[in-house]
Amino acid sequence: MIISSASDYRAAAQKRLPPFLFHYIDGGAYAEKTLRRNVDDLAEVALRQRVLKDMSQLDTSIELFGEKLSIPVALAPVGLTGMYARRGEVQAAVAADKKGIPFTMSTVSVCPIEEVAPKLKRPMWFQLYVLKDRGFMQNALERAQAAGCSTLVFTVDMPVPGARYRDAHSGMSGPNAALRRYIQAVLHPHWAIDVGLKGKPHTLGNISTYKGKDINLEDYMGYLGANFDPSISWKDLEWIRDFWKGPMVIKGILDPEDAKDAVRFGADGIIVSNHGGRQLDGVLSSARAMPAIADAVKGQIKILVDSGIRNGLDVVRMLALGADCTMIGRAFIYALAAQGQAGVSNLLDLLEKEMRVAMTLTSVKSVSEITGDLLVQ
Ligand code: FNR
Ligand code: LAC
Repeated sequence: MIISSASDYRAAAQKRLPPFLFHYIDGGAYAEKTLRRNVDDLAEVALRQRVLKDMSQLDTSIELFGEKLSIPVALAPVGLTGMYARRGEVQAAVAADKKGIPFTMSTVSVCPIEEVAPKLKRPMWFQLYVLKDRGFMQNALERAQAAGCSTLVFTVDMPVPGARYRDAHSGMSGPNAALRRYIQAVLHPHWAIDVGLKGKPHTLGNISTYKGKDINLEDYMGYLGANFDPSISWKDLEWIRDFWKGPMVIKGILDPEDAKDAVRFGADGIIVSNHGGRQLDGVLSSARAMPAIADAVKGQIKILVDSGIRNGLDVVRMLALGADCTMIGRAFIYALAAQGQAGVSNLLDLLEKEMRVAMTLTSVKSVSEITGDLLVQ
């Protein structure tokens, strides 16, 4: 199979993965309108082509929270990454590390913090969800800090899991889910041997370490629904802000008023995101939400953005819309599922090449020159 883009990796991932995993990754909430808009609206962003300005020397790097990133991209937190490839969090994190960009570990990862962090040269980022068992939060923050994690990503757009219709049909949840997953695994032997057998234990690594017993994945969606805490509010975040020594970023902002609240709260950054269209269907795509948020808070707080970014041109588009840095979710997950660490490395190289093409043809030599001036008005 010839691979030249994230959509090629998506096709390869669909072949390799049992359907319950592929659709969990690929799907979104309700009619998946926002999921599609994330990609479509971004593709509509037109840039001004400029030529003949000697573009032989380009610099794609940025500095963010005191860290140097070789490209303005970080890997977004993705739950269950260790189910898509063998010990998948380690493979993705090492690929990010080699590229010189941050990997963000999800609260609901398969590999625990302690398995991944020691394999990296740079500090990883850690993403926190609020569980009803608040003891977990303190434990997770202490462990993340002990493992040298730098930035805390606090996700606020999933107080409850979204309504994702594909999951019931695919066997991720729904009737006879365990049996259906077993049959799918048998029909996908490469995955079954590599990940299903050799990739154990299949548990929620961070939560299992805290509980001192395996929290397995029999009813993952049920677990999220039962244990995530919808009572969370800004007030609950104050002790975390005071406890966490590094930068704290709020993930899941889609409205300028919430962005201003994040500034008032004292966050170091926000991530403009609709969770990849997995939560409230019908909300604005990140590309469309960006300009108003940038108008409201640009310069006061770092603005990161995700949802819909599939290539290096999309990265440049998001920066032109006002972001300081981007994050990718599905794009790297498809590559990981298809080809493991090598797939993620290749995808990140593709993003850089595509960014260079976009920068050359818009005549910008450094990331700081990528501004709203590039947009066709
Ligand atoms: C996610 N996302 C997510 N976000 C988060 O804060 N914690 C998590 O555990 C997860 N888990 C998760 C699983 C899967 C399978 C996906 C696809 C996404 C959301 C993720 O961080 C990011 O916001 C989106 O993936 C961005 O959209 P794209 O790049 O996938 O379009
Ligand atoms: C999801 C959660 C885990 O989107 O963030 O499935």
